[in-house]
Amino acid sequence: MGGPMGGPMSGPMSAAISIDRLTVRFGDVVAVDDVSLSIGEGEFVSIVGPSGCGKTTILNLLTGLVPLQDGRISLLGKTPAAGNPDVAYMLARDCLLPWRTTLSNACYGMEVRGIDEATRTRRAGELLARVGLKGFEDKWPKQLSHGMRQRCALARTFALDSPVMLMDEPFGALDAQTKLQLEDLLLELWSAQKRTVVFITHDLAEAVAMSDRVVVMSARPGRIVADVKIDLERPRHVRALQKDRHFLDVYAHVWEKLEEGLGATAGAIT
Ligand SMILES: Nc1ncnc2c1ncn2[C@@H]1O[C@H](COP(=O)(O)OP(=O)(O)OP(=O)(O)O)[C@@H](O)[C@H]1O
Ligand SMILES: [Mg+2]
Repeated sequence: MGGPMGGPMSGPMSAAISIDRLTVRFGDVVAVDDVSLSIGEGEFVSIVGPSGCGKTTILNLLTGLVPLQDGRISLLGKTPAAGNPDVAYMLARDCLLPWRTTLSNACYGMEVRGIDEATRTRRAGELLARVGLKGFEDKWPKQLSHGMRQRCALARTFALDSPVMLMDEPFGALDAQTKLQLEDLLLELWSAQKRTVVFITHDLAEAVAMSDRVVVMSARPGRIVADVKIDLERPRHVRALQKDRHFLDVYAHVWEKLEEGLGATAGAIT
């Protein structure tokens, strides 16, 4: 698959992210092995795969935090670079700054990007309300539960207004109930303001429920063993989906692919 070369207007299927034959080595460890992946604008794509298969490494390359060694990456037509305002990154641990209040934490990313104070406060206030933190604007992180801190981080990530959002197990450390709530919340925010999302998770149910596509990687060296289109209707409600027959079928299919990937040796594609 060749990388799309078109300019910004290369048609309705224009890729927001195009990864072409990416290989990443750390010393003699091959972390990512010949990965090609194209993600359309506004698409929600999850990446699943065993621990150590290179998922975080791929995100780090997309942010420009890890330099490109072998292959090509284009992100909205540009080579990834640290500090690119087109990209917002959210991690499993909220990374809220303990000396800032909820509001000030939600503003932080915008502050770094030089967005003016009035816009910062307005956007952060709106998003904090959307994520259910109205009334907690002046609290410190230590006064919030872990779920509330992740809500704040979600508000901060959306407030950046970046067209591409990279999320590395953002709900990984949450209890099952809070996780379902935040998944629905993320889908709600995403459908209101379509961003391109690359979402990493170990939770296949989460991947299937949220995504347009689930990309399955093999054990290290990480290769893509399947790219499954999730044809569930939208809008989706993650909690309701848990009992949906079609959802369960798709989930079982992705499981099979993951298991194939666990046993995969070099060469297994699709
Ligand atoms: N900065 C680094 N220096 C050396 N090795 C690294 C570095 N970053 C990642 N690796 C190695 O690359 C491989 C892939 O790591 P990565 O963090 O991308 O995996 P992952 O799929 O995100 O795993 P997990 O699901 O556990 O988060 C691992 O073997 C890891 O040890
Ligand atoms: Mg990781």
